Amino acid sequence: MLEKYVIQGGCKLTGEVNISGAKNAVVAILPATILANGPCVIDNIPDISDVDIITKILKEMGADIQVINKSTLRIDTRNIKVPEVPYELAKHMRASYYFLGALLGKFNSASVAMPGGCDFGVRPIDQHLKGFEALGAHCKLDQGMIIVDAEKLVGGDICFEMVTVGATINVMLAAVKAQGLTVIENAAKEPHIVDLANFLNSMGANIMGAGTDVIKIRGVDILHGTEYSVIPDQIEAGTYMVAAAATKGDVLIKNVIPKHLESITSKLQKIGVEVTEYDDSVRVRYVDELVRTNVKTRPHPGFPTDMQPQMAVLLCLAKGTSIVTEGVWENRFKYIDELRRMGADVSVDGRVAIIEGIEKFVGAPVKAVDLRAGAAMVIAGLAAEGTTEIEDIYHVERGYEHIEDKLRSLGANIKKITIPDNVIGKVL
Ligand code: EPZ
Repeated sequence: MLEKYVIQGGCKLTGEVNISGAKNAVVAILPATILANGPCVIDNIPDISDVDIITKILKEMGADIQVINKSTLRIDTRNIKVPEVPYELAKHMRASYYFLGALLGKFNSASVAMPGGCDFGVRPIDQHLKGFEALGAHCKLDQGMIIVDAEKLVGGDICFEMVTVGATINVMLAAVKAQGLTVIENAAKEPHIVDLANFLNSMGANIMGAGTDVIKIRGVDILHGTEYSVIPDQIEAGTYMVAAAATKGDVLIKNVIPKHLESITSKLQKIGVEVTEYDDSVRVRYVDELVRTNVKTRPHPGFPTDMQPQMAVLLCLAKGTSIVTEGVWENRFKYIDELRRMGADVSVDGRVAIIEGIEKFVGAPVKAVDLRAGAAMVIAGLAAEGTTEIEDIYHVERGYEHIEDKLRSLGANIKKITIPDNVIGKVL
């Protein structure tokens, strides 16, 4: 079965859109429920396929999961006895490596499939394993599984060689019940790091300094069940902010934490877009011709790498020459080839893209090469003249809840079509 979006470009986005819970927070919080010796009720969970995979893994391992409502789950993991994630399930999602930290923290042992490669270069986990070893664990790779074991986990000092969200999260998960004090230096400071620390502390953990580059964790013996609401997704919000600007629209983006959006807001304002902040929403309004600017992605609070493709699409529509530098990943410009099909004038050299402004995109058949690149192609299609068809939209549905419904409610002409396999064969 092939699914694709079909977009008729040229509609200004106007109206209001509600932002869902943060994907990169929830993919850590759900595995973290393994550490609780009681049920956890978690709210503001986005309806995305990454969540479906994680809940399937938890159920396969023995967790009892009840759906309270469309965005709230009650998760009781006390029946999980074997610290191993089924290979077939884990290999489909990179973030399944958070089960390593959670299972290690709970059972002093964990086995999870080696995470798959990714769409934008190598994604090593050496810092994750370095962190586990600093707590007294031994790590090995066997038959494609990462196996981590410890007689007992003892707090230790870890200084990451680079800022890494995943390793910061994984070490937090492993350290919350370790004996004594763990100090993580050069820690990641993303909002989802703070959200996970708040979730763990609501279970009785003792984590200080999350959101700064030094996180201190005093191990505790017991973590109890809790009730918790996931923060809004800063990248989903940023994606709609850029979409509003790219379509010359006027959109109120609700259920956000404006402070999490500061680097995106200031870039949009620099390009000439009007952004107004309220307590839990931002209004984005196109006022005049977009002006070129330069962007370099950095760890939080810098401009987020997960907004790089979306911002590059907007800069294609800005007058003048813009430079986008990818400061986090080695090769996150694969989507530019797809964007060129729509008329983009961009040259890429390693981590730098030089963007020449164009009048407009022209609709074309394109592919989503990864999650955020797919969202960027949607934005380009919305702004384009004519029809854009986007294939491989499963990437987009990993991280954006009901994106076509939300866009249609803002006036977009977008629909998802499904082509059954028997028809695909005939077409091809
Ligand atoms: C998380 O990936 C996010 N994924 C990514 O978002 C995001 O791009 C990234 O953080 C940076 O913000 C989730 O949260 C599920 P890293 P992660 O460890 O943790 C190198 C999306 O679109 N590194 O911060 O894998 C690594 O190669 C996704 O939602 C090592 O060298 O990223 C990269 O260059 C895409 N060794 C840099 O650090 C390690 O052990 C940052 O990676 C770990 C990382």
